[in-house]
Parts: sequence; C-alpha cells; structure tokens
Amino acid sequence: MVCSLCATHAWPDVGRAARDRNLIGKPYLSPPKVLRSDGLVTAPVLVTGAAGFIGSHTVEALCRRGLPVVGLDNLNDYYAPERKRANLEEVRAALQGAPFTFVEGDIRDRALLNNLFSEHRFGSVVHLAAMAGVRASVDDPWTYYDVNLTGTLNLLAAAKEHGKPNFVFASTSSAYGRTETIPFVETDTADRPLAPYPASKRSVELLGHSFHHLHGLDFTALRFFTVYGPRGRPDMMAYKVFDNIFFDREVPLYNGGNMHRDWTFVLDIVAGVANAATRRLGYEVINIGRGEPVLLSDFVAGIEAVTGKKTSLTNKPMMDADVSFTYASIDKARQLLDYEPKVSVKEGIESHWDWYQDAVLSQAREAQTPGGSASPTSSTGSTGSAGSGGSEPQQRV
Ligand SMILES: NC(=O)c1ccc[n+]([C@@H]2O[C@H](COP(=O)([O-])OP(=O)(O)OC[C@H]3O[C@@H](n4cnc5c(N)ncnc54)[C@H](O)[C@@H]3O)[C@@H](O)[C@H]2O)c1
Repeated sequence: MVCSLCATHAWPDVGRAARDRNLIGKPYLSPPKVLRSDGLVTAPVLVTGAAGFIGSHTVEALCRRGLPVVGLDNLNDYYAPERKRANLEEVRAALQGAPFTFVEGDIRDRALLNNLFSEHRFGSVVHLAAMAGVRASVDDPWTYYDVNLTGTLNLLAAAKEHGKPNFVFASTSSAYGRTETIPFVETDTADRPLAPYPASKRSVELLGHSFHHLHGLDFTALRFFTVYGPRGRPDMMAYKVFDNIFFDREVPLYNGGNMHRDWTFVLDIVAGVANAATRRLGYEVINIGRGEPVLLSDFVAGIEAVTGKKTSLTNKPMMDADVSFTYASIDKARQLLDYEPKVSVKEGIESHWDWYQDAVLSQAREAQTPGGSASPTSSTGSTGSAGSGGSEPQQRV
C-alpha cells in the first residue's frame, strides 16, 4: 500500500492482525443512548490530534457512528511524523470512503481555526491535540504551555464564536498528583500536579469552566488513565518494552516495576470519548480508566509472555514527576456516559503485540533488506521541536 499523503512511503497494513482478532475496526462500541434532537449528531465533529494514537482511533469510532469528521493535526516530530501518517493511512483504509477530511495545521494558528469553524459549523469538538509527555514537560514547560494552554484557549474562543459546539477535552489522571484518595475520584481537588504537563491539563479544565460559566459552552474534561494498544505512542511504556526486546533499546524500569497503573485499552477509552462527544453535559470532569490497577512488573511480564522473549530493562529510582499508583473510580463515567471498559489487560497486550509486529517489525525487516525504503518510526524527540532522526539499533528478531 502506498501512502497517499506523501506518495513515497510504502506502508504495511498496520493493525491487520489486530483486526483479525476482532479488536480493531469492529464497531463493538454501543450506540449512545442520549442523542439530542438539536442537530448535534449530524453536524460534523472536529477531532484535534487526529493523526495521533487516541485521535486516529477516535476518528474511526465517530465515523462508524455516521458522523462526518474533520481531523486537525500538525504532525509534529515529538515522535516520528511517519508514524502519524501511517495512522491516518490505516484510518482511511478502515473507513473506506466515510466522510473524513484531514487538515494539517496547528491549534496555535487562530486564523486557521477561524476558517475551519466558519466553514464547517461543528456540532462537537473532541480536543486531543497536545504535547503529552509528563517527563518531557519538565525539560520544556514553555512548549507544553504554549500548545496545551494557549492552543486550547484558541479552540475555546473559536467554539464560543461559532455556534458553541459541545466541547470534549482530553485531560489526564496525572492531574491527581500524589492524591491519597484511592480510587481517584473526580471530587478530589486535584490541585497539586507534579509536572508542567498535568498542570497545563488541569489549567485547561479550569479554563473550560470559565467558558462554560461565561458563555454557556458545554465542556466535558475526560481524565484518561494510562492508555495503551495499537498505534500506541513510542514514548510510552508498552511500546518501549517491545522496543527493548526487539531493538535492544535501553528502557528504564522505574522503581523496579513496583508501581501500579490503571492500564486502559485504547478502544475502551475511545468508547468513552465518542459517548461524550454525542451528549451535552454542561460542565463535567470524568475519569476514563479501567478501574483495575496492574503492577508495572506484571504488565511487563504480560508482554514477555505474549512475545515469548525476555526484557532487559534498566532499574531506575522513581522520578520526582511520577506517582506510584493510578486507580480510576469509573462510577461517574458509567452513570453519565454509559461507559463500561471491556478489554482485559491480557487481551489488550495481545492486540498491541499484533499491531507492533505488523506496523513496526515488518517495516524494520523491510528496511534491512537491500532496496527497502521504509524505516522504523519509533524514535522520539523530547519537546516536539527536535528532529525525529537518530540511528536505529539493529533489530533483534
Ligand atoms: N496516551 C495516554 O496514556 C494519555 C493519558 C492521558 C491523557 N492523554 C491525552 O490524550 C490526548 C491524545 O494523546 P495521545 O496519547 O494520542 O498522544 P499523541 O501524541 O499520539 O497525539 C497527540 C496529537 O496531537 C498533535 N498535536 C500536538 N500539538 C499540536 C498542535 N499544536 N496543533 C495540532 N496538533 C498538535 C500531535 O501531532 C499528535 O498527533 C492528549 O491530549 C494527551 O494529553 C493521553
């Protein structure tokens, strides 16, 4: 398959095996029960960050519900833009002509946003575009505030000016910091974020309240808990563990893997997002997790089991910006969004592994054969402004 975006790269059918397992591309998402008769469900949806991990799955889910989608993404090099183009290719292949338009552009470009909102009269905005690394935000807080706060302000202002579409915002479990309330519940003050990234996300939740209060904008912040699965970000642990096994990349295992994470499969997250996009709730902050924390070392063991190979991770002490526990209360999501996570961590790891073989290992093999053109797309920049290059370790398969 040739990439229709750049017409030069050849992409494998990423996620094929996962689709065969019926996890990807299968519309298991239940239709929303609360549909308004105010035009919301037929008006187009703007999905920002559409080429990213969660964004690309969100585009698919919304289109499968019959909604026209406009995707916006600046394809930055926080991780390889080729990976994001490959995500878009997979979306296009899966949707086969469904009404999806992609626009390459930046949420910091106010003129662009004004044109987009004037042209499309969106019924909903699903705002996923962000600089999304906790640790990278410590090194470059400026970029994080510029994109995550100023960029979001631009979108909120455009929404206010253009018909007040339902606004859904991707927030994060890291907003809770080192809370002592377990499981994490939305009534927590969440006013002690440990790094600029969660501080920027919490700031947007507050800004959203101002727009709701002053202008009547419906604003729902969804706090995602450790998302993993096909098209997963190369800077996140699941992907890095695969990279450690197959490319000998050095990967830190913080606190000896003795930290719990509420790992949540991407299609479960996206089911919550799609339900939120199709119902107006006033102002709400809602956790979207699995509600069953798993030890990091057990998650790694799950990857070793599915690949049949051992990791060689490097033990490191826990970082200042990190927490030892995440655990979502999902009662509110169940109540307001009919949200019910369905994919076990075991199934999710298998699906992630299927995708990694198709999308990463097969490309690496192709690159190693004489005349192969594709290159692995797992390298990451740290701030979104650095280049995505760097020499790739040899594949160990
Ligand atoms: N993955 C997780 O575990 C997780 C957890 C909590 C919250 N979130 C949030 O979910 C959202 C999606 O995360 P993801 O994991 O899919 O990350 P991602 O990096 O794969 O997706 C974000 C996308 O936004 C785009 N983007 C960044 N800056 C932009 C800008 N200025 N203009 C236009 N596009 C821009 C990027 O190119 C990227 O494709 C983010 O807001 C993130 O903070 C993710």
